[in-house]
Amino acid sequence: MLSNAVERVHDCNPVDNPAARLLLEELLARGHAKLQIGRETRRQIDHSFSIAREYFAKPFPEKSSYALSQYVEGYREIGLEYSQVKERPDLTESFSLWNRNRAHTEAAGWIQSCPIHAELRRTVDDLSTYVADLFQTMADKWAPGTPGPRFERASYIQVNYYEPAQHSRDMLQDGHEDGHLITLVTANSPGLEIEIDGKYMPVELGENEMLIMPGSLLTLMTGGAIPPLFHQVKNSRRTDPRYSMMFFVNPEGNQVLEPWIKNASNAGRDVIAEANALPLKFGLPSLEDGTEGRGR
Ligand SMILES: [Fe+2]
Repeated sequence: MLSNAVERVHDCNPVDNPAARLLLEELLARGHAKLQIGRETRRQIDHSFSIAREYFAKPFPEKSSYALSQYVEGYREIGLEYSQVKERPDLTESFSLWNRNRAHTEAAGWIQSCPIHAELRRTVDDLSTYVADLFQTMADKWAPGTPGPRFERASYIQVNYYEPAQHSRDMLQDGHEDGHLITLVTANSPGLEIEIDGKYMPVELGENEMLIMPGSLLTLMTGGAIPPLFHQVKNSRRTDPRYSMMFFVNPEGNQVLEPWIKNASNAGRDVIAEANALPLKFGLPSLEDGTEGRGR
């Protein structure tokens, strides 16, 4: 038995991507997977966190000057986004970058004036290559000959900034599943827990790993073969800030997207329509409203 992806490539069909195939097997078997990231990606993420540290330490007026809330772009303070109910917001500030908004932020001069924005552009480009490989592998498995779903323009990267010791709540984010196809996540300190067999367990990630969390849209695409991964962020009460990075991957709305596995669970359901509406569940505008600048 060959033990790693580099060796396995020799016994695969050359069009296959063995690393992505192993990831897909892991998702199917365990409901989540650990993505091996390259050294350059690790460096890129660490650099993004160091720039995030400088950004979130700035006074509120400066941070909030980089927010285009109608496009869900840039800074968001605590209180706008929630996991279950709006009375219990996620106890985190955040900074988002949507690929769809690049023209708006370019026009606003953010590439030059806002280092965290410029850095996240590089990071999201890097992470997108892993996702494209995984989606193509899924399409090859369940709908051979079709391209993987297009996702770039509908997806966004976000850095969250937590101050655990400032909050009395046990959970900085209540348990929830993400309304996306997948979320890639990493963090600089503990707190993230995932539900395994009905019990929340802390996640341990190696230096060169990111967690792949399936969202409810992937469940829809796979006819329930890959359930959504419920997760939460537990309060460590640490005085050091906690930073996490998420790449939230949605399907672009300008494509026909049929479920890969069709059965009773997804009969008559429209993947694109559900993707559009799911952000509403967490206090955010629909994908279409955010694209058109009709958010708050
Ligand atoms: Fe989440």
